[in-house]
Amino acid sequence: MGENANHATALAELGDAYFQDPHAFHAELREESAARPILLPRGLKVWLVTRYDEARLALADPRLSKDFAGFLPLFERHQTGTREATRFDNSLVQHMLNSDPPTHTRLRKLVMKAFTPRRVEQLRPRIQQITDDLLDAVADRGETDLVEALAFPLPITVICEMLGIPLDDRDDFREWSNTLVAGNDPDAVEAAGTAMAGFLSTLVDTLRAHPGDDIFSALIHATDENDRLDQTELISMAFLLLVAGHETTVNLIATGVLNLLRHPEQLDKLRADRTLLPGAVEEFLRYEGPVNQATFRFTTEEVTLGDVTIPEGEFVLASLMSANRDERRFADGESFDITRAAGGHLAFGHGIHYCLGAPLARLEGEIAVGTLLDRYDIALTAEPETLRWRSSTLMRGLYTLPVSLSARGAR
Ligand code: HEM
Repeated sequence: MGENANHATALAELGDAYFQDPHAFHAELREESAARPILLPRGLKVWLVTRYDEARLALADPRLSKDFAGFLPLFERHQTGTREATRFDNSLVQHMLNSDPPTHTRLRKLVMKAFTPRRVEQLRPRIQQITDDLLDAVADRGETDLVEALAFPLPITVICEMLGIPLDDRDDFREWSNTLVAGNDPDAVEAAGTAMAGFLSTLVDTLRAHPGDDIFSALIHATDENDRLDQTELISMAFLLLVAGHETTVNLIATGVLNLLRHPEQLDKLRADRTLLPGAVEEFLRYEGPVNQATFRFTTEEVTLGDVTIPEGEFVLASLMSANRDERRFADGESFDITRAAGGHLAFGHGIHYCLGAPLARLEGEIAVGTLLDRYDIALTAEPETLRWRSSTLMRGLYTLPVSLSARGAR
């Protein structure tokens, strides 16, 4: 551990055990204090905020900046040991989740109309159709991996259609995106970033010449009060929407179904009363949401969160998964209960960066899980303890979810 790591706990030392079950570690940290320094697996020192109230405050505090230009010198300062820093492709990072107002306000305004609950509701028939087609395709299969069959293809198909991206490219895209989000190997990250930026740049040129009826074409040709995006901003925006749009909802669906299968009494309740579905989706998000830690912020001055004072120039990660199980906010927070009032969870973040895609994610989650339950009886075909979780400090998601499906009424 490097000298400036102080008394930081190294997640790398916790190893795979942390990724397979982060909840026990989070519960210990919550007991201890609202926040504490830890080392991420590649040696970067950050402050991890684990209690609900303080995580919520951190997410909305303007003294915690998301300006990408400000990140770079801090990556050098807080990298411990000799590990090589990750190299970023500059054309992918100029987006709203890496900016503060007024840039953030401007970028978000250009695209937010496409994601309002009303606009998203218009996608319902198409999302239902895609779900039906995917479930038709596994009808005779019996055993299947639900990630591959439904949870991954549904959101990626929807977001690709919204953005005008050819579906043929989605496997390449998935690989680059997974590599970038995992962030484990600097060479692989650099190669994936270059490939992704090249792909999106070509797409901008194509849609500039032949605009379609999609958000990306509209952004390329946008003149919102004479504002428009430059080429780098366009590529970064498409990158953010694509990654945010499919790295997350896949986990909402797969982890949500897993938790129903692990709690059969909750599954029975949902089957018996389908009006519980929207509340169940909120509980999926609270109990084990797709995003483990929110993205990087840094302190522009000293900031006190509860019992902890964080100096200026430090990275802060709000642990959404930990906050969402904090007993101070959610009674019996470690238990899965689809009838609880799960509202107020932080799975979509909080403040000005609150998830733009929340209405879309909720709709996709409801349609996917609702349709699955309508059509099939489902059973896990592996012991829950043997399922593998992705080694990402950002995302919480299963690699595979092996299940057997039997058509309801055909038993
Ligand atoms: C269940 C699925 C999803 C979850 C749990 C989720 C979660 C989040 C979280 C936690 C943030 C804030 C991160 C932070 O403050 O550090 C965020 C931001 C964002 N999400 Fe989502 N997201 C989901 C689906 C989507 C979808 C489908 C889209 C649409 C394309 C999307 C687009 C965005 C965008 C553009 C931002 C940045 C907003 C800003 O900076 O103002 N997300 N999301």
